[in-house]
Amino acid sequence: MSAEYIALMNVAARIARQAGDLVYAGRRAGAGTVQTKSSATDMVTEWDAASEQLILQQLGLVRPDDSIIGEEGTQIVGTSPYTWFVDPIDGTTNFLYNLSGYAISIAACIGVEPVAAAVFLPATRELFVAAQGHGAWLGSNPLRVSSCESLDTALIGTGFSYSSARRDAQGQRISRLLPHVRDIRRCGAAAADLCFVACGRLDAYFEEGLQSWDLAAGQLIASEAGAKISNFSGEPITPSEVLVSTPGIHSSLIASL
Ligand code: IPD
Ligand code: CA
Repeated sequence: MSAEYIALMNVAARIARQAGDLVYAGRRAGAGTVQTKSSATDMVTEWDAASEQLILQQLGLVRPDDSIIGEEGTQIVGTSPYTWFVDPIDGTTNFLYNLSGYAISIAACIGVEPVAAAVFLPATRELFVAAQGHGAWLGSNPLRVSSCESLDTALIGTGFSYSSARRDAQGQRISRLLPHVRDIRRCGAAAADLCFVACGRLDAYFEEGLQSWDLAAGQLIASEAGAKISNFSGEPITPSEVLVSTPGIHSSLIASL
């Protein structure tokens, strides 16, 4: 299995780079055509769609029997045990505003369990990858989470929903947590936030109401780098409640969230 997971990781990495190059070149000419989705602030650009098409086409060439689920509408049911979760641009708001924190996120999963992953940040050209049981890397450097053991010195990432009702609850959670931590960051792309925990740029990340395509790749990269992952109660992680941290602060975060 493990050689297979490495091969899948390499497929994800190659295609994430290709899609990243496409959207980066597109962004240099402006964000292109923009439409809204679930709310007036949930945007989709022509480059989200173009990136998903490129990823679909490339996966179809080398993995024709796999299932694929993509944020911009792809739902292909295959015959193999593998499902690919694809976010063609995670951090679309950053992309729209020409902020550098957007990413291409691609994961191969068995059921909902990620086994191979790549997250590519086109603006910084950083490629994060992982294969289950093998570790996680930024380029060729192996990743390890930070050694943070105390909440009051922890830098915590989070994100907010496009739904205003959910933001109300998220704001209250932040106001409870803020006095007890070093600081909070809202970088704007969940997949990148999870990679930042993996490489020690954040000590933890939590968010509620994600989707599988936001979570799958970054979850594997963080856990292979030694992060502890769960929902807010310490039970198995799901996209609806994501808590990923260094082992030393996980239980304090559960108590505080
Ligand atoms: C969003 C980003 C953001 C997170 C939102 C996601 P999108 O994904 O990951 O950081 O806070 O919950 O929906 O819409 O940019 O692909
Ligand atoms: Ca997206």
